[in-house]
Amino acid sequence: MELRDVPGPKARAIIARDKQVLSPVAGRVAEFVMSHGRGAEVWDVDGYRYVDLIAGIAVNSTGHSHPRVVQAIQQQAEKFLHISADYYHELWVRLGERLAGIAPFQEEAMVFLANSGAESVEAALKAARYYTKRKFFIAFLSAFHGRTMGALAFTASKAKYRANYFPWMPGVLHVPYPDAYRPVLLSKPGEDYGETVVRYIEEQVLGKLAPPDEVAGIIVEPIQGEGGYVVPPDGFFPALRRLCDKYGILLIDDEVQAGVGRTGKWWAIEHWGVEPDIVCTAKGIASGVPMGGIIARKRILEAWPPGAHGNTYGGNPLAAAAALATIDLIEQEYMANAAQLGVYALERLNEMAARHPSIGQVRGKGLMLGVDFVKDRESREPFAEFRDRIVEYTFRLGALMMGCGPSTVRLAPPLAITKDLLDEGLEIFEEAIRLAEKDFA
Ligand SMILES: Cc1ncc(COP(=O)(O)O)c(C=O)c1O
Repeated sequence: MELRDVPGPKARAIIARDKQVLSPVAGRVAEFVMSHGRGAEVWDVDGYRYVDLIAGIAVNSTGHSHPRVVQAIQQQAEKFLHISADYYHELWVRLGERLAGIAPFQEEAMVFLANSGAESVEAALKAARYYTKRKFFIAFLSAFHGRTMGALAFTASKAKYRANYFPWMPGVLHVPYPDAYRPVLLSKPGEDYGETVVRYIEEQVLGKLAPPDEVAGIIVEPIQGEGGYVVPPDGFFPALRRLCDKYGILLIDDEVQAGVGRTGKWWAIEHWGVEPDIVCTAKGIASGVPMGGIIARKRILEAWPPGAHGNTYGGNPLAAAAALATIDLIEQEYMANAAQLGVYALERLNEMAARHPSIGQVRGKGLMLGVDFVKDRESREPFAEFRDRIVEYTFRLGALMMGCGPSTVRLAPPLAITKDLLDEGLEIFEEAIRLAEKDFA
């Protein structure tokens, strides 16, 4: 395994042009200039091949340019590209039926479609306020829900996302996410840390800050993504559901990163047998064509009259064609692949943890896996520079990976990745850890 001298000349030339015209606000993680991709492999413009362990942040669920997704888009492109959400077309209806059919609740579902994760969050917030006629929301520290002015009020993973944008939407109260590895609240003896967080919400927030009958919804990621691939303890979601039921608060499940088969189930919240009221989806839903939306209990979205919300592109025919093909592929093959390879990868990462004391914790479900690096295992102090060095080395060794949270490297490859490619990627990852260990020895 050799460290490459990347970027090459063609990539360098394009990056130089990029800097002239594209705002630096798009913070890049590596100097990777894509030429093309297939499955879980991508190539840059100088011909360097990479194993893709991040899938454009959990987006290329079926892999790059899956022939069935490409064919579905091509066939639709020949017919029409757009007709606006003010008219009807059948693919939009079929996608609505398909999404309603995989809703993670028994009650009948209804769907609203948009173009991104942030827009799906905006739709969920507006629908929740409209339906409940209540004002407040509860969200979690370290959450990421997007960057539009509404969603931004909920995003709390990095101060730089918020700097200079105040005032944001009022009425949003943040509480700690149930991260049992780095808890910040005191549990009662025998109490699951997830239950501790829910007790805190009830006693401190509903009891002292926001009257429960004025709280519209609690928005939560089933596994915190940008915040560090943090998996909540098993007691959390059942307790949160009970709390919402007690006070008539809507449980809004942001599955933008964790959903659509990534964790081995359609929706990550299903791992805890809990039914949300509104699900936000985007990213993996259409294999890379921009699409987002919400799936909610029918009574919530039925109460939304024409014009109360909307957009131009919702249900866009190209995105709908891509989404339908994606959902079929995930159902037929890739959700099972994610579940199976997820168990295998978790095992391999735990073996790595036994060899490398720099690893504090390995966590995740399916192909949403995080490896948390620490200064020492006892203090669990995050080691951000070490993590950043690993991401840099994996790039130079031939894999695309990204960090998240204070000190985690995330693995979110296409759900279609093969075991051989996953093995290759994991070997690159371990070599990067070895190199970083030498640097910081
Ligand atoms: C959980 C979650 N919600 C919302 C978003 C925002 O999605 P988008 O970037 O498509 O607006 C993201 C993006 O990373 C996310 O991970």
